Order: sequence, then C-alpha cells, then structure tokens
Amino acid sequence: MRVALVQFNPHYMQVHANLDRVSRMIHGLEADLIVLPELFATGYCFHSSSDLSSVAEQQGSGPAIDFLRFHSESTGSTLVGGFPERDADAIYNSAAVATPDGRIDVYRKIHLFDREKLLFAPGNLGFPVFDVRDRQERPYRLGIMICFDWYFPEAARSLALQGADVIAHPANLVRKDCPRAMPIRALENHVFTVTANRTGRERYPDAELEFIGQSLICDPSGEVLAGAGRDEERILSADIDPHQSRHRQITVHNDLHLDRRPECYALGAAAPDDKRI
Ligand code: ACM
Repeated sequence: MRVALVQFNPHYMQVHANLDRVSRMIHGLEADLIVLPELFATGYCFHSSSDLSSVAEQQGSGPAIDFLRFHSESTGSTLVGGFPERDADAIYNSAAVATPDGRIDVYRKIHLFDREKLLFAPGNLGFPVFDVRDRQERPYRLGIMICFDWYFPEAARSLALQGADVIAHPANLVRKDCPRAMPIRALENHVFTVTANRTGRERYPDAELEFIGQSLICDPSGEVLAGAGRDEERILSADIDPHQSRHRQITVHNDLHLDRRPECYALGAAAPDDKRI
C-alpha cells in the first residue's frame, strides 16, 4: 500500500482557503492513506477561546470533517487530519480518520502542549486503534497520535501493543527533536510512522511560533523512507507492506512484545516527590 502525507503552511482562521490548498495539493494523488497536519484547516495559535470556539466542529460534521469524508469517499483513500472538536462544553484537539465507507473515527490528543492547556480539554478516549483497509481491501490496523504525544513513549507503545501496524501522526511541531525521535518510536515499537507536520510561522498576540516542517515516514527498522525539508510545501509518499510490522522476532529467542516485563516497570502516575522514575 502507499502512505502519503501533506506538509504545508495553513493560514490562521482561513478555513476555506486552507481546505482549497490541501484539495489542490492532493488532487490526483494515488494513496491508500493520506495524513494531514494537526489543526490543518484552522491554524494553531488561537488568540482566544472565542476564536477557537468559532471554528470548533461538532462531532461528525463541519468543514474539516466534511472535507475529509468527501475526499475519502471520492478517492478510496483513508484520510487523517487534525481539527478542533466540540463535545458539549469541551473542545478537544482531535484528529479524525475518514474511511471510504463514510465512517469517521476520532482520537483526542492526550498530551497537550504548552498554551493548548489553556484552550483545549485533555483527550479522554485513550489511544484507539482502528481497523481499516487499503484500496485493494487488504486490512491493516491504524493508530493515531498527535504532535507532542511523540515526547511520551507510552503513546506509540500503547498503539503498538494494541496491534497498530501504522501510526498516523498529525503534527504542528515547534521543537527540533521530534524528527530525530520518530525513527526511534518506529524502531522500538516495530511500526510504521507517518508524521505530517506543517511549515511557516504564526503569532499569538504576544509571541511567535515557527513550525519546523521535516515531515517523515519511518519503517519498523527505524529507517526514514521519505523526509521533507523545513520550509517546503509538498507531498511525501512511500510504498509499504503494513504487515511487516507484525514480524517482531528480534532473535530466535526474542520477541519485541512477548519479551516485555511489565511487572518490572513502574506503573501509573509518579508521586510529585518521587524522582526515581
Ligand atoms: C504540539 O504539540 N503542537 C507542539
């Protein structure tokens, strides 16, 4: 199957222009899975809760969700992209998975970054893994994490332990370390990873963020199959066999999952004064 990602520079609060831009970029793209950045239709640096609220989408419908559903149904690709999701009084930093049968599944970002904590509710759906199919109807398992989740090895691990073959990773990265870390996340979990980051700069009223591009696709041995530059707007793609992730035998005597020793690992939250972990 072919996995692809879109790296581009969304403009703040210009939802329809951003959707048009992605639509033009993916026109004619033949891929089974297309991953778009975090908050790809709205931009990232929300100036206020009312700005965020004005672009948050109710479950199941709204411009970004409709866009993902339309492109999935009309091309047969599965699309993943980030959007602000409203549920009752809360707004989550979410990513939707749109499959060609019209289904929409959602992941809500667990590890909120910096000022996101002032605006979004922390994700409450765990790390779900979805059963999806490529365009030849071959099944594989798709996990989602969003941007800063990369900093917590537990995120990719939770997805891998539930059988994710491919982790789609919509991002708005500002820290330089993630492109170095993702090959390790792929290697230590023996999964494919597809990190779709954005480019450009955006302003809060009192500060500016610069996004680092460098989107990348990694294979289960930690090799980078495709990588983008810092500023370029482009599509990346790679042909993969997702089931390669299932061969977790490291030596005759070692299996990446079966050799885990959870009884030896610290569990749960560390006490605030416990520095041992
Ligand atoms: C981030 O999590 N958007 C840095």
